[in-house]
Amino acid sequence: MNLDIRDLQMHYIKERALDGLSMKVSGLRSIAVIGPSGGGKSTLLRVVAGLEVPTSGYVAVNGRPIDYEEKALREYRKRIGVVFQAYNLFPHWTALQNITVPLAKVYGMERDEAVEKAMALLKKFNLEQHAGKLPVQLSGGQQQRISIARAMAREPEILLLDEPTSALDPQLTKEVLDMVLALKEEGTNIMMATHEMAFAKRASDHVFFIDEGKVAKEGSSLTFFDSMDRDRLAEFLSHVFD
Ligand SMILES: Nc1ncnc2c1ncn2[C@@H]1O[C@H](COP(=O)(O)OP(=O)(O)OP(=O)(O)O)[C@@H](O)[C@H]1O
Ligand SMILES: [Mg+2]
Repeated sequence: MNLDIRDLQMHYIKERALDGLSMKVSGLRSIAVIGPSGGGKSTLLRVVAGLEVPTSGYVAVNGRPIDYEEKALREYRKRIGVVFQAYNLFPHWTALQNITVPLAKVYGMERDEAVEKAMALLKKFNLEQHAGKLPVQLSGGQQQRISIARAMAREPEILLLDEPTSALDPQLTKEVLDMVLALKEEGTNIMMATHEMAFAKRASDHVFFIDEGKVAKEGSSLTFFDSMDRDRLAEFLSHVFD
Protein backbone atom coordinates (compact mmCIF):
# COMPACT_ATOMS: atom_id res chain seq x y z
CA MET A 1 0.00 0.00 0.00
CA ASN A 2 0.97 3.62 -0.45
CA LEU A 3 0.02 6.39 1.92
CA ASP A 4 0.96 10.02 1.63
CA ILE A 5 -0.26 12.07 4.57
CA ARG A 6 0.90 15.66 4.97
CA ASP A 7 0.45 18.08 7.84
CA LEU A 8 -2.81 16.55 8.97
CA GLN A 9 -4.72 18.58 11.55
CA MET A 10 -7.84 17.50 13.37
CA HIS A 11 -9.01 20.06 15.88
CA TYR A 12 -11.87 19.55 18.27
CA ILE A 13 -13.26 22.33 20.43
CA LYS A 14 -10.86 21.72 23.27
CA GLU A 15 -8.01 19.83 21.70
CA ARG A 16 -5.96 18.95 18.71
CA ALA A 17 -6.28 15.22 18.15
CA LEU A 18 -3.95 15.48 15.15
CA ASP A 19 -1.48 18.30 15.06
CA GLY A 20 0.68 18.31 11.95
CA LEU A 21 0.89 14.57 11.37
CA SER A 22 2.78 13.46 8.27
CA MET A 23 3.36 9.90 7.16
CA LYS A 24 4.73 8.38 4.01
CA VAL A 25 4.36 4.69 3.21
CA SER A 26 5.52 3.26 -0.11
CA GLY A 27 4.94 -0.33 -1.05
CA LEU A 28 4.57 -1.68 2.46
CA ARG A 29 2.15 -4.45 3.30
CA SER A 30 1.52 -3.98 6.99
CA ILE A 31 1.98 -1.03 9.32
CA ALA A 32 1.38 -0.68 13.04
CA VAL A 33 0.41 2.55 14.76
CA ILE A 34 1.35 2.60 18.42
CA GLY A 35 1.65 5.22 21.14
CA PRO A 36 0.09 6.51 24.34
CA SER A 37 -3.63 6.80 24.94
CA GLY A 38 -5.02 10.02 23.49
CA GLY A 39 -2.12 10.37 21.07
CA GLY A 40 -4.34 10.38 17.98
CA LYS A 41 -4.21 6.78 16.65
CA SER A 42 -7.96 6.26 16.33
CA THR A 43 -8.44 9.73 14.88
CA LEU A 44 -5.82 8.99 12.23
CA LEU A 45 -7.49 5.68 11.35
CA ARG A 46 -10.91 7.35 11.10
CA VAL A 47 -9.49 9.94 8.73
CA VAL A 48 -7.81 7.29 6.57
CA ALA A 49 -11.10 5.33 6.60
CA GLY A 50 -12.93 8.38 5.24
CA LEU A 51 -15.12 8.50 8.35
CA GLU A 52 -13.96 11.95 9.45
CA VAL A 53 -13.03 15.06 7.54
CA PRO A 54 -9.84 16.59 8.89
CA THR A 55 -9.55 20.26 9.77
CA SER A 56 -6.76 20.55 7.21
CA GLY A 57 -4.04 18.54 5.53
CA TYR A 58 -3.60 16.15 2.63
CA VAL A 59 -4.24 12.41 2.51
CA ALA A 60 -3.64 10.22 -0.54
CA VAL A 61 -4.23 6.47 -0.49
CA ASN A 62 -2.59 4.41 -3.22
CA GLY A 63 -1.89 7.54 -5.21
CA ARG A 64 -5.40 8.99 -5.06
CA PRO A 65 -6.07 11.98 -2.80
CA ILE A 66 -9.19 11.62 -0.65
CA ASP A 67 -11.90 13.91 -2.01
CA TYR A 68 -14.08 15.16 0.85
CA GLU A 69 -17.09 15.92 -1.28
CA GLU A 70 -19.86 13.76 0.17
CA LYS A 71 -20.55 11.49 -2.79
CA ALA A 72 -16.84 10.94 -3.49
CA LEU A 73 -16.30 10.15 0.17
CA ARG A 74 -19.07 7.54 0.12
CA GLU A 75 -17.37 5.88 -2.85
CA TYR A 76 -13.98 6.14 -1.19
CA ARG A 77 -15.21 4.32 1.94
CA LYS A 78 -16.05 1.28 -0.19
CA ARG A 79 -12.34 0.83 -0.86
CA ILE A 80 -11.43 0.48 2.82
CA GLY A 81 -12.27 -2.22 5.38
CA VAL A 82 -12.58 -1.11 8.99
CA VAL A 83 -12.75 -3.03 12.27
CA PHE A 84 -12.98 -1.23 15.62
CA GLN A 85 -12.18 -2.59 19.04
CA ALA A 86 -15.72 -3.82 19.73
CA TYR A 87 -19.39 -3.50 18.74
CA ASN A 88 -18.76 -3.83 15.03
CA LEU A 89 -21.66 -6.16 14.30
CA PHE A 90 -25.31 -5.24 13.98
CA PRO A 91 -26.87 -6.97 17.03
CA HIS A 92 -30.16 -7.96 15.40
CA TRP A 93 -28.56 -9.69 12.41
CA THR A 94 -26.92 -13.12 12.32
CA ALA A 95 -23.20 -13.43 11.57
CA LEU A 96 -24.08 -14.33 7.98
CA GLN A 97 -26.48 -11.39 7.57
CA ASN A 98 -23.88 -9.05 9.00
CA ILE A 99 -21.74 -9.92 5.98
CA THR A 100 -24.40 -10.34 3.29
CA VAL A 101 -26.67 -7.36 3.96
CA PRO A 102 -23.92 -4.73 3.42
CA LEU A 103 -22.71 -6.59 0.32
CA ALA A 104 -26.23 -6.41 -1.09
CA LYS A 105 -27.10 -2.88 0.06
CA VAL A 106 -23.78 -1.06 -0.37
CA TYR A 107 -22.23 -3.03 -3.23
CA GLY A 108 -25.44 -4.04 -5.01
CA MET A 109 -24.53 -7.72 -5.01
CA GLU A 110 -27.26 -10.31 -5.72
CA ARG A 111 -28.37 -12.10 -2.57
CA ASP A 112 -27.21 -15.58 -3.70
CA GLU A 113 -23.83 -14.27 -4.69
CA ALA A 114 -23.47 -12.44 -1.37
CA VAL A 115 -24.36 -15.59 0.59
CA GLU A 116 -21.91 -17.65 -1.44
CA LYS A 117 -19.14 -15.14 -0.86
CA ALA A 118 -19.88 -14.80 2.85
CA MET A 119 -20.01 -18.58 3.40
CA ALA A 120 -16.70 -19.02 1.57
CA LEU A 121 -15.10 -16.45 3.88
CA LEU A 122 -16.65 -17.99 7.00
CA LYS A 123 -15.35 -21.43 5.94
CA LYS A 124 -11.92 -20.07 5.22
CA PHE A 125 -11.66 -18.72 8.75
CA ASN A 126 -13.33 -21.71 10.40
CA LEU A 127 -16.40 -19.75 11.34
CA GLU A 128 -19.06 -21.45 9.25
CA GLN A 129 -20.69 -23.14 12.27
CA HIS A 130 -21.50 -19.64 13.58
CA ALA A 131 -23.21 -18.35 10.44
CA GLY A 132 -26.71 -18.48 11.91
CA LYS A 133 -25.86 -17.02 15.31
CA LEU A 134 -26.63 -13.53 16.54
CA PRO A 135 -23.68 -11.54 17.95
CA VAL A 136 -24.83 -12.14 21.56
CA GLN A 137 -24.45 -15.88 20.92
CA LEU A 138 -20.80 -15.47 19.90
CA SER A 139 -17.69 -14.99 22.02
CA GLY A 140 -15.90 -11.66 21.74
CA GLY A 141 -13.13 -13.27 19.71
CA GLN A 142 -15.62 -14.88 17.33
CA GLN A 143 -17.40 -11.55 16.91
CA GLN A 144 -14.15 -9.86 16.00
CA ARG A 145 -13.24 -12.60 13.55
CA ILE A 146 -16.67 -12.23 11.91
CA SER A 147 -16.07 -8.46 11.79
CA ILE A 148 -12.75 -9.00 10.05
CA ALA A 149 -14.34 -11.49 7.62
CA ARG A 150 -17.01 -8.88 6.86
CA ALA A 151 -14.38 -6.21 6.23
CA MET A 152 -12.52 -8.62 3.91
CA ALA A 153 -15.71 -9.41 1.98
CA ARG A 154 -15.43 -6.01 0.32
CA GLU A 155 -11.91 -6.86 -0.91
CA PRO A 156 -10.54 -3.65 0.57
CA GLU A 157 -7.41 -1.89 -0.61
CA ILE A 158 -6.51 -1.54 3.05
CA LEU A 159 -7.82 -3.30 6.13
CA LEU A 160 -7.83 -0.84 9.04
CA LEU A 161 -7.89 -2.38 12.50
CA ASP A 162 -8.27 -0.17 15.55
CA GLU A 163 -7.18 -2.20 18.57
CA PRO A 164 -9.29 -5.16 17.51
CA THR A 165 -8.28 -7.19 20.57
CA SER A 166 -8.44 -4.63 23.35
CA ALA A 167 -11.76 -5.91 24.68
CA LEU A 168 -10.61 -9.57 24.69
CA ASP A 169 -8.90 -11.90 27.13
CA PRO A 170 -5.54 -13.45 26.11
CA GLN A 171 -6.94 -16.65 24.56
CA LEU A 172 -9.45 -14.78 22.40
CA THR A 173 -6.82 -12.20 21.55
CA LYS A 174 -4.67 -14.97 20.14
CA GLU A 175 -7.51 -16.21 17.88
CA VAL A 176 -7.93 -12.76 16.39
CA LEU A 177 -4.22 -12.07 16.04
CA ASP A 178 -3.69 -15.42 14.30
CA MET A 179 -6.35 -14.42 11.79
CA VAL A 180 -4.66 -11.07 11.18
CA LEU A 181 -1.32 -12.82 10.71
CA ALA A 182 -2.86 -15.23 8.20
CA LEU A 183 -4.31 -12.30 6.26
CA LYS A 184 -0.96 -10.57 6.26
CA GLU A 185 0.74 -13.72 4.98
CA GLU A 186 -1.64 -13.89 2.06
CA GLY A 187 -0.92 -10.31 1.07
CA THR A 188 -3.64 -8.15 2.65
CA ASN A 189 -2.60 -4.54 3.23
CA ILE A 190 -3.09 -3.85 6.92
CA MET A 191 -2.91 -0.68 9.00
CA MET A 192 -3.43 -1.44 12.66
CA ALA A 193 -3.50 0.58 15.85
CA THR A 194 -2.48 -1.75 18.63
CA HIS A 195 -1.29 -1.96 22.21
CA GLU A 196 0.07 -5.46 21.58
CA MET A 197 3.74 -4.66 21.17
CA ALA A 198 4.89 -8.21 20.52
CA PHE A 199 2.27 -8.49 17.85
CA ALA A 200 3.14 -5.14 16.29
CA LYS A 201 6.70 -6.39 16.00
CA ARG A 202 5.70 -9.68 14.46
CA ALA A 203 2.90 -8.66 12.13
CA SER A 204 4.01 -5.30 10.78
CA ASP A 205 6.75 -4.24 8.41
CA HIS A 206 6.91 -0.72 9.78
CA VAL A 207 5.91 0.98 13.02
CA PHE A 208 4.76 4.56 13.61
CA PHE A 209 4.84 5.86 17.17
CA ILE A 210 2.21 8.60 17.49
CA ASP A 211 2.18 11.06 20.35
CA GLU A 212 0.39 14.40 20.72
CA GLY A 213 -1.07 14.16 17.25
CA LYS A 214 2.16 13.65 15.35
CA VAL A 215 4.53 10.90 14.36
CA ALA A 216 7.15 11.02 17.11
CA LYS A 217 9.20 8.15 15.74
CA GLU A 218 9.00 5.52 13.04
CA GLY A 219 11.04 2.66 11.77
CA SER A 220 11.17 -0.82 10.38
CA SER A 221 9.60 -3.15 12.92
CA LEU A 222 12.76 -5.28 12.86
CA THR A 223 14.80 -2.47 14.39
CA PHE A 224 12.22 -0.09 15.87
CA PHE A 225 11.84 -1.70 19.27
CA ASP A 226 15.56 -2.19 19.74
CA SER A 227 16.47 1.35 18.80
CA MET A 228 13.71 3.08 20.72
CA ASP A 229 14.94 4.92 23.75
CA ARG A 230 14.63 2.38 26.55
CA ASP A 231 13.30 4.78 29.16
CA ARG A 232 10.65 6.18 26.88
CA LEU A 233 9.53 2.75 25.76
CA ALA A 234 9.47 1.54 29.37
CA GLU A 235 7.39 4.54 30.38
CA PHE A 236 4.98 4.03 27.50
CA LEU A 237 4.62 0.32 28.18
CA SER A 238 3.94 0.95 31.85
CA HIS A 239 1.04 3.20 30.83
CA VAL A 240 -0.29 0.64 28.41
CA PHE A 241 -0.20 -2.25 30.83
CA ASP A 242 -1.09 -0.54 34.12
N1 LIG B 1 -15.02 13.36 18.60
C1 LIG B 1 -14.14 13.93 19.44
N2 LIG B 1 -14.44 15.11 20.06
C2 LIG B 1 -13.55 15.70 20.88
N3 LIG B 1 -12.33 15.22 21.16
C3 LIG B 1 -11.98 14.06 20.57
C4 LIG B 1 -12.85 13.36 19.68
N4 LIG B 1 -12.21 12.24 19.25
C5 LIG B 1 -11.01 12.24 19.86
N5 LIG B 1 -10.85 13.32 20.63
C6 LIG B 1 -9.65 13.67 21.42
O1 LIG B 1 -8.55 13.60 20.56
C7 LIG B 1 -7.43 13.00 21.20
C8 LIG B 1 -6.95 11.79 20.42
O2 LIG B 1 -7.89 10.76 20.54
P1 LIG B 1 -7.73 9.34 19.86
O3 LIG B 1 -8.97 8.58 20.16
O4 LIG B 1 -7.36 9.51 18.45
O5 LIG B 1 -6.50 8.73 20.68
P2 LIG B 1 -5.88 7.25 20.65
O6 LIG B 1 -4.43 7.39 20.36
O7 LIG B 1 -6.68 6.38 19.76
O8 LIG B 1 -6.04 6.78 22.17
P3 LIG B 1 -6.33 5.28 22.77
O9 LIG B 1 -5.01 4.59 22.79
O10 LIG B 1 -6.83 5.58 24.16
O11 LIG B 1 -7.34 4.63 21.91
C9 LIG B 1 -7.89 12.67 22.62
O12 LIG B 1 -7.44 13.66 23.48
C10 LIG B 1 -9.39 12.66 22.51
O13 LIG B 1 -9.98 13.05 23.72
MG1 LIG C 1 -7.86 4.71 20.05
